[in-house]
Amino acid sequence: MDFHNTLIKWYLQNKRDLPWRNTTDPYQIWLSEIMLQQTRVAQGMPYFFAFTKEFPTVFDLANASEEQVLKLWQGLGYYSRARNLHKTAKYVAFDLGGSFPAAYKELLSLKGVGEYTAAAIASFSYNEAVPVVDGNVFRVLSRYFDIESDIAIPATKKEFTELAYELMPKDNPAIFNQAIMEFGALQCVPKSPNCTICDFNDSCAALQKKKVMDLPVKSKKVKVTNRFFNYLILEDALGNTQIQKRTAKGIWHNLYEFPLLETKEIEGFDFVSEAVKNDLFCSYTIIGIEEYHNAALVHKLSHQHLHIQFWKIKIEEVIEKGVNMVDVKAFPFPIVIYNFLEKQELIC
Ligand code: ADE
Repeated sequence: MDFHNTLIKWYLQNKRDLPWRNTTDPYQIWLSEIMLQQTRVAQGMPYFFAFTKEFPTVFDLANASEEQVLKLWQGLGYYSRARNLHKTAKYVAFDLGGSFPAAYKELLSLKGVGEYTAAAIASFSYNEAVPVVDGNVFRVLSRYFDIESDIAIPATKKEFTELAYELMPKDNPAIFNQAIMEFGALQCVPKSPNCTICDFNDSCAALQKKKVMDLPVKSKKVKVTNRFFNYLILEDALGNTQIQKRTAKGIWHNLYEFPLLETKEIEGFDFVSEAVKNDLFCSYTIIGIEEYHNAALVHKLSHQHLHIQFWKIKIEEVIEKGVNMVDVKAFPFPIVIYNFLEKQELIC
């Protein structure tokens, strides 16, 4: 049987029932594909339901505030996706009259929509014959055809895109794209795939050559930077605290956080207390400083490992524009800070 026939037969017997597969609405497909970038289906699914409930149309999303969108996105990570999502919704709603571009090439012009996402929307919504090429597709094709090209190199993307296009039935690109992604997600998995039950086990080149675990080839590991964050949780005479918006470019742009003391390494009480009293909060009368016990943690992002400590700073004065511990919960925070708040039962 042809590659695509075997693949599609497998898909029809094994596919998961996922909500974005029951529609051709480009709004819903775009939403789901942005959410599923770098994110597992199980993690993205509740967010897909929450967004389609809160914002049933692109106009609803466009009319929301960025803060509302970030709040609903809280916990999904890679927050630039949410900011781009909101910008694109405004563009589609207000400049394009609510209609998404109807072809792959034009979809590419949307903020946050790269080749993969444009191909997914174009094929799932409009049945345009453009192949999706993501990590799943690299894995499936590199193994099946024993391709040793380095998938970290742009030329390899082109090679796999051309191959996937050749394999794709041009009268049904949508099912082929869904099928190859699903096959990579469920059967041809990165670690310990069960090749004994695989429908391709009599024709997979990597299996025959015992190279399944060597493929795909990927060079250059991402360099991880360690950063050391001390969050300073002020508590004033009214029990209020202070938060600030992260406006600088970089991680968590436009999300909220507590005043931050970033250091070159993990620091203890003496260093933090010196910085707080003599520098950061020298205009306040400090009554007490203590580290929150059992709150220190390492939060791993793709390129950064954040070593985070939380400190309670009691002051005598009343903070101008202080926020109480109940209202604070409504702001969009990085999930690591939100979890800290919940754990400390600072909020009711
Ligand atoms: N990952 C990215 N897009 C997906 C989709 N449409 N279905 C399942 N997993 C995906």
